[in-house]
Amino acid sequence: MTSHATPTAAQQQALQELLEQLGPQVVLTGDNVPVRNQNDYSGMLPTRPLAVVRPADTQGVSTAMRICHKHGIAVVPQGGLTGLCGGARAQPDQIALSLERLVGIEEIDSASATMTVAAGTPLETVQQAALEAGFFCPLDLGARGSCAIGGNLSTNAGGNRVIRYGMAREMVLGLEAVLADGTVMTSMNKMIKNNAGFDLKHLFIGSEGTLGIITRIVLKMFPKPGSTMTAICAADDFDTVLRLLNSARRDLGPLLSAFEVMWPDYWDFATKQVASVRNPFGADAPERAAYVLIEALGTDPELDAPRFEAWLERLLEEGVVPDAAVAQSVADARAFWGVRDACAELHPMWPRHMAFDIGLPVASMDEYARRCKQELERRIPGCMSVFYGHIGDGNMHIVAYHPTAKEQPKDDVEDVIYGLVRDYGGTVSAEHGIGTLKRRWLGHARSPEQIEVMRTLKMALDPKNLLNPGKVI
Ligand code: LAC
Ligand code: ZN
Repeated sequence: MTSHATPTAAQQQALQELLEQLGPQVVLTGDNVPVRNQNDYSGMLPTRPLAVVRPADTQGVSTAMRICHKHGIAVVPQGGLTGLCGGARAQPDQIALSLERLVGIEEIDSASATMTVAAGTPLETVQQAALEAGFFCPLDLGARGSCAIGGNLSTNAGGNRVIRYGMAREMVLGLEAVLADGTVMTSMNKMIKNNAGFDLKHLFIGSEGTLGIITRIVLKMFPKPGSTMTAICAADDFDTVLRLLNSARRDLGPLLSAFEVMWPDYWDFATKQVASVRNPFGADAPERAAYVLIEALGTDPELDAPRFEAWLERLLEEGVVPDAAVAQSVADARAFWGVRDACAELHPMWPRHMAFDIGLPVASMDEYARRCKQELERRIPGCMSVFYGHIGDGNMHIVAYHPTAKEQPKDDVEDVIYGLVRDYGGTVSAEHGIGTLKRRWLGHARSPEQIEVMRTLKMALDPKNLLNPGKVI
């Protein structure tokens, strides 16, 4: 925890007004600031904000913003605090505005196939509510139990099913946002088509709380899949992975819902070091160049499952893939996903590790991975790294860790990873966002002109720079 200076007169005044207008249930200060609100998942040290404000409705968010705007106090929006880039960490002179009490499903509209939901609602609650109403919310990521749908939008979260359903942005029809001065901009559109001027919701999606605070959302719902097919394939080289990807796109067509690739270093970590994970090919299976987890979602198990299996059998017979396993039960499918989700275990096993979510042209992925690993080992002897990710979307995760270093060699690791990203024309963030951790690398992925337009928008909507300052740009 950081040490605390005495609040300034403006801060004291703001705290007093917040307490008066929102009450002690909503406004927590000093030692009452919960530990939970002092950090996210970025691996940085905790920081205790001046106060945590937890309104239970949009009006409360608006009141908080109006008071903070008047007194020039910076505000950091917080959702489920599962972000990996420091976007939700509030400094000691800032207020954390947590959406944790602004929760609940307001409405499911079957005719529009929409769900109206409060921004602090956990993603898993949204997914469950959709299923119970006979719909499907395809947004899915490892943090589903804790992350909030508002945070998913403000970071334009990706996850495991982007290849079919797109990023969070694609699932939003309308939203309500509170602006820096407390203005409430409500635009709860339910229509697929609405070209009446600028589509303002996209300003707030993916801008990490720097332009406004999302409070309510209209989500697009999808038909509930009637069948789920899951397989793991081995590959002896990356060309095979690309052939498999093309074949899956062509032969599974719109059913293809996930195409996740794991390089051998990751696979070894997951299957040998994580107790709950078993190797679907058996403990003694030979090591392969890559492993691919494929999921397809269909409408009819009687038709879809045999078609899926026939497709894979053909690839095996033709010698395209050397080995494959098809899930025969929900438990099998869970076990396959267990290998992929084992990345969550990297947190306890590699404490303070460095995590990346780069984007690259798909064809360059393997060359990048090999060059990157080589360069990391050459420049930082002893540096370990694993590679895996949503390769169908051109999104690779890298986790790097030095087991004996007193401090993780963050600068050197970033130099190698982002330097190569620039060489290959990739992006420094495919899905986790910029936050504070990647801010100095934004120029590796966006041109000066693009960054200038971002600054113009920021100045227009938040001229006092009070909304999540120091994040993104
Ligand atoms: C994943 C998260 C880290 O894909 O983005 O596992
Ligand atoms: Zn990911």
